Amino acid sequence: MARQAAYRQCETHGATLRSAVSADAAAIAQILIDVRSAFMPYAPLMHSAAEVHSWVAQILIPSGNTVIAELSGELVGVMTSARAPTCSWIDQMAVHPSHVGCGIGSVLLDHAFRVLPRPIRLYTFQANTGARRFYERRGFRAIQLTDGRANEEHCPDVLYEFRDRVQAER
Ligand SMILES: CC(C)(COP(=O)(O)OP(=O)(O)OC[C@H]1O[C@@H](n2cnc3c(N)ncnc32)[C@H](O)[C@@H]1OP(=O)(O)O)[C@@H](O)C(=O)NCCC(=O)NCCS
Repeated sequence: MARQAAYRQCETHGATLRSAVSADAAAIAQILIDVRSAFMPYAPLMHSAAEVHSWVAQILIPSGNTVIAELSGELVGVMTSARAPTCSWIDQMAVHPSHVGCGIGSVLLDHAFRVLPRPIRLYTFQANTGARRFYERRGFRAIQLTDGRANEEHCPDVLYEFRDRVQAER
């Protein structure tokens, strides 16, 4: 019920996507920091805010695979991806806490579906039930559960894979 009300109050139809540029670095870093503290208290960031800002500016944006969503010129979402020899990866997906549940993540994911070769894979924490529901309802299937030993936070995660739209409609 609360979420239906949130949907009604959202303005998503004006959301536009574009590739990130260096001037977006600070806002992107802040979203990555804010979503972690707002939604993933079980997996605190292993890096300081200054380190996250520096990584976004010096590594993430120069890699050229960062797409941002804007509403009225305000950065409200970010997604980064990578192409590997046998699959694509969504490495980062984050919507500003004040805009979660408004359709921004779906717009970003639709962009990934348009441009990324299949299969598309991503990791999320097992405890991230909101994100898991989001991905599963859009056709991702869990293909591996880990004990978290291999990630920085040592927090159990789940590997998801998306193959095609037919799979999504089953
Ligand atoms: C997961 C996330 C990217 C989805 O983006 P979004 O813009 O909120 O998603 P949309 O509005 O397009 O769709 C809402 C869906 O997200 C799910 N969701 C996840 N967290 C939610 C939350 N806190 N509030 C409302 N919906 C949430 C809902 O189940 C809903 O699914 P449904 O439409 O199938 O019922 C976004 O909630 C987010 O950034 N969360 C925090 C960071 C995160 O978990 N990132 C993913 C790590 S891999």
